[in-house]
Amino acid sequence: MQRHDVVVVGAGLAGQRAALAAIQAGREVAIVSKLHPLRSHSGAAQGGINAAVGKEDSVETHIYDTVKGSDYLGDQDAIEFFCREAGPTVVEMEHFGTVFSRGPDGSLARRAFGGAGFPRTIYAADRTGLALLQGMWERLGTERFTLYEEWDLTDLVVREGRVQGIVAFDRKTGEFEEIAARAVVIATGPYGRVYGRTTNAHSCTGDGVAVAYDAGAVLKDMEFVQFHPTALLESGILITEGARGEGGYLKNAKGERFMSRYAPHVLDLASRDVVSRAIVTEVAEGRGFSGPYGGYVNLEVMHLGREMIESRLQEIVDFSRNFAGIDPVTEPIPVYPGQHYMMGGISTNLHGETSIRGLFAAGEAACVSIHGANRLGGNSLLETLVFGKQAGIAAAAYAASAPAPEMHASDLDRAAAPLRAWSSRTDGEDPSALRTELQQTMERYASIYRNEADLLEGLRRVRALKARFARVRVVDQSRVYNVNLTDALEVGHLIELSEAIVVGAYARTESRGAHARTDYPKRDDAHWMRHTLAQRTPDGPSLSYGPVTFTRWEPKERVY
Ligand code: FUM
Repeated sequence: MQRHDVVVVGAGLAGQRAALAAIQAGREVAIVSKLHPLRSHSGAAQGGINAAVGKEDSVETHIYDTVKGSDYLGDQDAIEFFCREAGPTVVEMEHFGTVFSRGPDGSLARRAFGGAGFPRTIYAADRTGLALLQGMWERLGTERFTLYEEWDLTDLVVREGRVQGIVAFDRKTGEFEEIAARAVVIATGPYGRVYGRTTNAHSCTGDGVAVAYDAGAVLKDMEFVQFHPTALLESGILITEGARGEGGYLKNAKGERFMSRYAPHVLDLASRDVVSRAIVTEVAEGRGFSGPYGGYVNLEVMHLGREMIESRLQEIVDFSRNFAGIDPVTEPIPVYPGQHYMMGGISTNLHGETSIRGLFAAGEAACVSIHGANRLGGNSLLETLVFGKQAGIAAAAYAASAPAPEMHASDLDRAAAPLRAWSSRTDGEDPSALRTELQQTMERYASIYRNEADLLEGLRRVRALKARFARVRVVDQSRVYNVNLTDALEVGHLIELSEAIVVGAYARTESRGAHARTDYPKRDDAHWMRHTLAQRTPDGPSLSYGPVTFTRWEPKERVY
């Protein structure tokens, strides 16, 4: 058995930043990751990171934009803290080695992003996540820590309300491993693969969130799912909001810049929930294009000129050419909304503390909540770094005085038992078929527009999949890199989290931010200005509600 002061699960930006903070606080740290750190999904973030750094912009405006973007569900104390940390965070990342794009005068280049009152999104062309990840990894590499790479989290051991450590599965050997830890930080990112059309990597299966939920951690606001307006048709690959920030625009099949109907002031740079609903409406009302991969609209950047497109939007040029066979310099890009970000996650305060002692969470796996019902583009990369650091500091402080963890042999056996049972069955359900059916179900019944009948049917289907998952079978008997086995592990996580999404969405009888109920089209502050809290029970999620923290901004109607 391995022993560490602090174990960070997940090696994207939030996990690495948490690890660095815990090391700097004097603790001995290990990182457990199912991927090489540089392959983390943080690297897929394209458009940029928000910080009010110029003379014309202000932290106050960033705070206000984030509060408004959240449809007033974000906790304002956390948002204030978050936005104040933005400038120092970007400067720190530059010192760590991240190379940001520059303006003609040498200052940090900034672009407009949706829902922002000022162009405050700092970027590295359209590879900002990758640039930050590289800077972070280089900085972390100067410290001593242990890396357990290609290890899947299978269990969180909690005794008497306190974390004792984790059990993980080493993909390379097929062995289960116990790691005793005084504190554990979950930074495993999102679970966007509950949907079929998503900008999320195949690895985004919510492992840490599901394992924490299973161990008793409270999840918050799971019903709020962000759909990015411009996912490339067919593959779902992200076409950055930076394309619109640089001056690109959306057009329907009638050649109309239709956003003037939905956001007359800011058009294509309204917040993501608004733009996504507009696209879905255009297609549903017959003004979209149609093709073998369904309805879509066009994103045009041709008018920006080759030089600008190929210098600032290199990734989307490559993606469009390689995955859609079109050249954005001369042709429009076919797009439709795809799941992009989960506002919900493990409930934390702004120090990353969860409902379980010794368990911390940060990044997209967590819900602080700063994004409330809708996240603004550019606030996600910032979130990973600001709250990754906070979680690392808090975990280190906790670990400094926490009692030595106690792991028992039975902990490993309990974690390994289901996986061993899956492999010993001679008959049962194929995990990849369950995954496909789950994604189709969520796509059809719990998508951008929701209503009671769909959500009930969605819940019935998710629960049927859950029952079938109890009979899941792993056919491949190999020990080394058994993808069939890790697939089963991941689909189990996706099913649990889908149930929490649908139950939360069914209960919330209002429309707010990304949660759009056609049967309850208005925001209902009197009843629903509150966070949804979900705890796992054998019968499914048990919901309760918690207050939203207000400091200075009264709720108003949100118009763009
Ligand atoms: O569109 C984008 O580049 C996405 C950025 C984000 O989600 O923050």
